[in-house]
Amino acid sequence: MESLGQYLRDAREGLNLPLQEVYKRTNIDVTLLSRIENGRRLPTKEQMQLLVRLYGCDEHKSLVLLGAEKVLFTLDGNKEYKLEVIQSVSEKVRLGKIPSLFPELSEVGYKMFDLESRRYIGNKAKLTRWIMNIINEHTGGFSSFFDVFAGTASVSKAAIPYADKIIMNDFLSSNNIIYKAFFAEGIYDMGKLYSIIEYYNSINPDSVKDNYFSDNFGDKFFDYRNSKLIGYIREDIERRRNDLTPKEYAILLASLIYSIDKIANTVGHFDAYIKKEIAYHPLSIQLIKLLNPKNIEIYKEDSNILARSITADVAYIDPPYNSRQYSRFYHIYENLVEWNKPELFGVAMKPKAKNMSAYCTSSAPVAFRDLIQNLNVRHIAVSYNNTYDSKSGSSKNKITLEQIKSILEERGNTVIYDCAHRCFNTGKTEFADHKELLFITEVKR
Ligand SMILES: C[S@@+](CC[C@H](N)C(=O)[O-])C[C@H]1O[C@@H](n2cnc3c(N)ncnc32)[C@H](O)[C@@H]1O
Repeated sequence: MESLGQYLRDAREGLNLPLQEVYKRTNIDVTLLSRIENGRRLPTKEQMQLLVRLYGCDEHKSLVLLGAEKVLFTLDGNKEYKLEVIQSVSEKVRLGKIPSLFPELSEVGYKMFDLESRRYIGNKAKLTRWIMNIINEHTGGFSSFFDVFAGTASVSKAAIPYADKIIMNDFLSSNNIIYKAFFAEGIYDMGKLYSIIEYYNSINPDSVKDNYFSDNFGDKFFDYRNSKLIGYIREDIERRRNDLTPKEYAILLASLIYSIDKIANTVGHFDAYIKKEIAYHPLSIQLIKLLNPKNIEIYKEDSNILARSITADVAYIDPPYNSRQYSRFYHIYENLVEWNKPELFGVAMKPKAKNMSAYCTSSAPVAFRDLIQNLNVRHIAVSYNNTYDSKSGSSKNKITLEQIKSILEERGNTVIYDCAHRCFNTGKTEFADHKELLFITEVKR
């Protein structure tokens, strides 16, 4: 029986197609093509389908050859051992004893992104244990948890073992798609997703044409070659949309965001890029590690509007406290997820402003009071931090600690914890040095 590589080579040569021509029509790198023909690499299913379509060869036969070679590639040992394994596999297939679940890729040793593995200003990933312990002890336990400004959702994730229901909200599209990817219910096929990202990782950036992403962000936030690849991948995810379930679509976009965060030429946000030559680190797309807990509600609304319609045991409040707008910090992710390709302005190539938070303006105390007044919950937990870049004027906090305290006191008795788990003697404490605080209010009935 011939090999897949031989079969594909014969088909190509029968058409008198040089490898260079195949590359032009399929975007599969010439070196990779010749390795496939020599049997030194297996094509992904996607690549094989491109070749089969181009050469007009038998798709079923190619799939069988690919499947057989995949099995053989994973087998080492002597001939007898291999024959025994194959016999046992064919017996299982005949009897229908095929494992019904594709194992999570992380379980078979494939590297995947954890939810916390992302740079995001003000995220509480390192404090979640502290926050949840205090909330749990102080409230005596709770069953529903409302993360009003969820950001990366690191706190929502930490609440999973404590609560039967998690409600998460953030008005950014990029955060919303990440929640849908990690948390939402939905059908997905990890094998299919893996084969798509395998295809992305096989693309040679030099073979990719200029596009919206590279035209705007190339050699700024990302090196030029990577930015071409990012634009191509984003467009490809959109092209496939009809063949993807909503969950698969969200997983691919979230994985793209997590992957490009690792090579972005920034200090962790996209307000500016680092102005020196960008070292080239090849983009490697990895999938995210799904959480899929039960009973999750996901919203993408303005906090103060949503608060009026949610009932929960605990509301966790972690708004921005200075004038730095998250929609401006993460404009590239917003752009990439919404993919409306808007006109961009300024050195940082930002679109026209939207999703500007009242919490970043002088009306922050009014917005905060309105929110607190309208929460329908038993306990309110508020995180407060005064550390972010405090030398800069735009980073001065918009709501003072005293304002937070007095607004919370209007709803009920309020206790303040600092990072060392200590409870402050309210009113007399010198707050200024404290960096991480957690206010907990027991709402009066
Ligand atoms: C300090 S971050 C939250 C960090 C989060 N606790 C974490 O661990 O990642 C504040 C979040 O509030 C969101 N936000 C700001 N104003 C908002 C509003 N009015 N409605 C909804 N979300 C808002 C921002 O997009 C940002 O993600």
